[in-house]
Amino acid sequence: MEQLLQQIEQYKQEIAGIVPNGADALEAYRIRFLGTKGIMKSLSAEMKNVPVEQKKAFGQVLNEFKQLAESKYEDWKNSLGSGTAGKANAIDLSLPGDTLPIGTHHPITLVRDQIVHIFGRLGFSVAEGPEIEDDWHNFTALNLPENHPARDMQDTFYIHQQPDWLLRTHTSSVQARTMEKQKPPIRIICPGRVYRNETISARAHCFFHQTEGLYVDENVSFADLKQTLYFFVQEMFGKDVKVRFRPSYFPFTEPSAEMDINCRICGGSGCSVCKHTGWVEILGSGMVHPKMLENFGIDSNKYTGFAFGMGIERICQLKYRINDLRLYSQNDVRFLQQFTGAV
Ligand code: DAH
Repeated sequence: MEQLLQQIEQYKQEIAGIVPNGADALEAYRIRFLGTKGIMKSLSAEMKNVPVEQKKAFGQVLNEFKQLAESKYEDWKNSLGSGTAGKANAIDLSLPGDTLPIGTHHPITLVRDQIVHIFGRLGFSVAEGPEIEDDWHNFTALNLPENHPARDMQDTFYIHQQPDWLLRTHTSSVQARTMEKQKPPIRIICPGRVYRNETISARAHCFFHQTEGLYVDENVSFADLKQTLYFFVQEMFGKDVKVRFRPSYFPFTEPSAEMDINCRICGGSGCSVCKHTGWVEILGSGMVHPKMLENFGIDSNKYTGFAFGMGIERICQLKYRINDLRLYSQNDVRFLQQFTGAV
């Protein structure tokens, strides 16, 4: 017993004298004092040799010593964790950081934002509508009653259980929704996704994006329409862009026109995108049909307006020379990464 107490006293002094340093020394300390074959274990094993009447006193000494050895270990460990003394737990502030991969905007998003920005400078604000639409807003309100032949031009996805509902075939439905709740002056741009039952190929897809534009006020003329759209393409494609308007037909505008620009891919010499004509159609437009205005209680004797609708994929294709529509939706990072910083 005497011997054991002396031994413990020595260990205590040894521990008090240790100056904590690296993680390796700490581990050696742990194994020596607290390990499964360490000093603490062998001292505890001596308990059985201690005379019964001294067991209690020895137990107390042993306990105190154990607490001392353990708290030394904890303090030592903590000092390594926060300081630079230890190798294993220390933080090396001089190491370079991990570089996180940075995502890019989708080209359609980039072009949509540019369109919104250009028209925003002319005073157009953004309006939105639902992609699941009803027949009235997508067709009837736009002067396309049931059995109107122009409905066939748009291969519509109908919702099976709800014959009155469909996936909108164009963003013109947002014109209807806006005129329903807002009175002139109206100056809106409506970007969004649209759906048509088309076979997917390099030139067609079952979903794509459009931007609708609508301007209704007093004295809005066809000259305003032409100048607004000319300004837009100059901002989007550069001052050298050439435009031409061709008469066309849309049930919701009268008169109607389609606008072409000179092909940005071949510069006009002829390629597959412009079908060797040198011109590419980018939008449909026209003066809002008086019947449309009247459908929404807007006095067509007082107000006139123009409207247009363009495909964002097409604008994007001409701007960035993209030859296959499917690239937009395949999520191939080799394609998407090319648009880093492309504005
Ligand atoms: N909605 C037409 C389409 O998807 C595009 C269009 C043509 C929109 C003329 C208009 C317009 O607002 O005036 O083909």
